Amino acid sequence: MTKSAQWISAAASFAAGQLDEAERLCREGLEVQPGHPMGFGLLAAIANVHQDFPRALYLAEQAIGAADGVALFYVEKAAALFALEQYAKAAAAARQAVDIDPEVPRGYFLLSHAKMPGESYRDIIRRFHAWLAPRSYVEIGVAQGKTLALAQPPCVAVGIDPRPNLHSPLDTTTKIVSLESDVYFAKRDLRTDLETDCVDLAFIDGLHEFRQVLRDFINVEHFAAKHTVVLVHDCIPLDALTASPERRSKFWTGDAWKLIAALGKWRPDLDIQSVATPPSGLGVICRLDPDNRVLGEHYGAIVAEFLGLAPPLTPHDQHEQLSVVDNDWTKIAARVARGTGRKAPCDEKKVWSKIKSAITGLAG
Ligand SMILES: C[S@@+](CC[C@H](N)C(=O)[O-])C[C@H]1O[C@@H](n2cnc3c(N)ncnc32)[C@H](O)[C@@H]1O
Repeated sequence: MTKSAQWISAAASFAAGQLDEAERLCREGLEVQPGHPMGFGLLAAIANVHQDFPRALYLAEQAIGAADGVALFYVEKAAALFALEQYAKAAAAARQAVDIDPEVPRGYFLLSHAKMPGESYRDIIRRFHAWLAPRSYVEIGVAQGKTLALAQPPCVAVGIDPRPNLHSPLDTTTKIVSLESDVYFAKRDLRTDLETDCVDLAFIDGLHEFRQVLRDFINVEHFAAKHTVVLVHDCIPLDALTASPERRSKFWTGDAWKLIAALGKWRPDLDIQSVATPPSGLGVICRLDPDNRVLGEHYGAIVAEFLGLAPPLTPHDQHEQLSVVDNDWTKIAARVARGTGRKAPCDEKKVWSKIKSAITGLAG
């Protein structure tokens, strides 16, 4: 086998999941070409699969030392650091990976999870359903139905998407309307579809362009009440490439984040949290007012003011402009409880510590 054929075979074995064979070929290759970056890089990937993260980190660093500028090596380094819970270092390695190649597999996934560790936006939405038990739920942008399926009986759920592609089993009464959201709100009555007067919980996750997200918010707020909570996906930009209005990369969050910045300025009466949850933040908005017409009346001025804005990327700017808060359910829910007049959900940590001391008491 030629020297390069050896590495191609090792990479093919790894891709086919034949890890022992890939490792054997790497070791054999490193005997012939000591210090070859492919050998270290593939062995790092194998160590990550085997969850031997300190070893994966060491090997990834050897690979980078032997050949800087290979995005995949930085991905392996980031994956090992992430598993070792060294999130800042993992984010730095993932950042190097996507700067070299924005399309490198797992690059943006690792970057977003390392920058915003903890429960994902879907976990947070599941928690909202469990806590609020909404009787009515509307979701703009359904895709495969993974978040729509979080609605539980007796909730009536309405999903709006011009191209729904449902794969998730639905537990409650759910109406899917195959329309763009603007067309939906122009032609149909959400109250009729929800079989009630107001929407209890909403999730805006359709077209990720600022103007559209702003219109979606305005339309949804018309059906809000004092207790309503509106969630908005993709509120925390990761970088200029993935947070731009035009899609130029596979991982793309668009400029939905501008909605949060605009609401902060034009609607100081709202309570807004941008939860730092992976992959790209979740806006949690309450204190809604269906009679407030400020956004609709100044739509043109708001678009003109915010459309050209560059994404805030430092923690300070994100906190100031996007009201970013930690990914901490107890704190998020306590604030929503204050904003909606609800009782906060029980604090799981406190419940567990009470159970623990009760058990310890019994044992003693
Ligand atoms: C990111 S996906 C939604 C994912 C889903 N909410 C989840 O978390 O599993 C975005 C969806 O928005 C839909 N979409 C695009 N333009 C839309 C529009 N104008 N109105 C409503 N939905 C739209 C797309 O068809 C796509 O299915």
